[in-house]
Amino acid sequence: MGHRDPIVYLNTNTMATRKKVFVTREIPEVGLKMLEEHFDLKVRREDSPIPREQLMEEIKDYDGIITILTDKMDSEVMDNAPNLKIISAFAVGYDNIQVPEATKRGIAVGNTPEVLTQSTAEHALALIMSVAKRTNEGDMVMREDSFPGWGPMYMLGTELEGKTVGIIGYGRIGQKLGEMMEKAFDCKIIYMDHSEKSTGGARKVELDELLKESDIVSIHVPLNEHTRHFIGEKELKQMKKTAYLINTARGPVVDEEALLKALQDGTIRGAGMDVFEKEPRRLAGLEQCKNVVMTPHTASATWEARSKMSEIAAKNIIGVLIEGEKPVAILNPEVLAK
Ligand code: GLV
Repeated sequence: MGHRDPIVYLNTNTMATRKKVFVTREIPEVGLKMLEEHFDLKVRREDSPIPREQLMEEIKDYDGIITILTDKMDSEVMDNAPNLKIISAFAVGYDNIQVPEATKRGIAVGNTPEVLTQSTAEHALALIMSVAKRTNEGDMVMREDSFPGWGPMYMLGTELEGKTVGIIGYGRIGQKLGEMMEKAFDCKIIYMDHSEKSTGGARKVELDELLKESDIVSIHVPLNEHTRHFIGEKELKQMKKTAYLINTARGPVVDEEALLKALQDGTIRGAGMDVFEKEPRRLAGLEQCKNVVMTPHTASATWEARSKMSEIAAKNIIGVLIEGEKPVAILNPEVLAK
């Protein structure tokens, strides 16, 4: 028998109807592999945020898009996307997306809750530990070889055992941090939230009491019109002089100018910041404050969390665009009910 070429059946029909998905930034492969199975996929593999003009241009033909938190998804962008059915945020926070505008246009908006809770709470804990133990300050001293030698009063920090932790926003991440602080250091947890949460021994209080009583105040609210500059000069002045402020939520929740001043004049003892008002920049002057520990918005930057975020972001797209599949987390499910 002579050699025969194998027959390849080209299902041109399926090829033609594959929906189109665009990813604005490289994300872990796991989600991209899932998307490749179903869609005509384009990934912008650049190590920088997509310029707005490029986003406006690219979005024209796509049915689904995965965005990162610096991609501003407003009505102007959405008006350029006649086929768009889903914006899948590679993040839990979605202040960059005008969700009501998406809803009006029948576009679903997905996010990635749960899977970054552990990572973010661990990061808040890391900031608490480093600012209270002055580890970064000590590290700097050793790097510049300026350690003057052991001293009884040299570089004293704060113990965490039994301290009061005030958590602003007692959702998944806030609760996880509360649990960690309770278990590890027998801390007393008080929190501020719209609703009463029945977890452990934590007690719901008003903001005034939280600020006055806490040794550590940690912020875990989303950014919206109610939370912009939620912590400013007045609130910082209500805090104990020995207290620390930790922000792993969104920069604009804290008035950064007021915080800088509070750090400079000793209104509070220190701060841990993972987020900033005008990212990627931080306010000039913060670099001079020894009592602040800063990280570049990396609270969810673990291999574990980012892989799971990639998977959920892909599942949200598949769930909306492929019949019979279900998305994991959609912020405006009313769009899908139609
Ligand atoms: C990160 O900041 C997120 O919202 O996922």
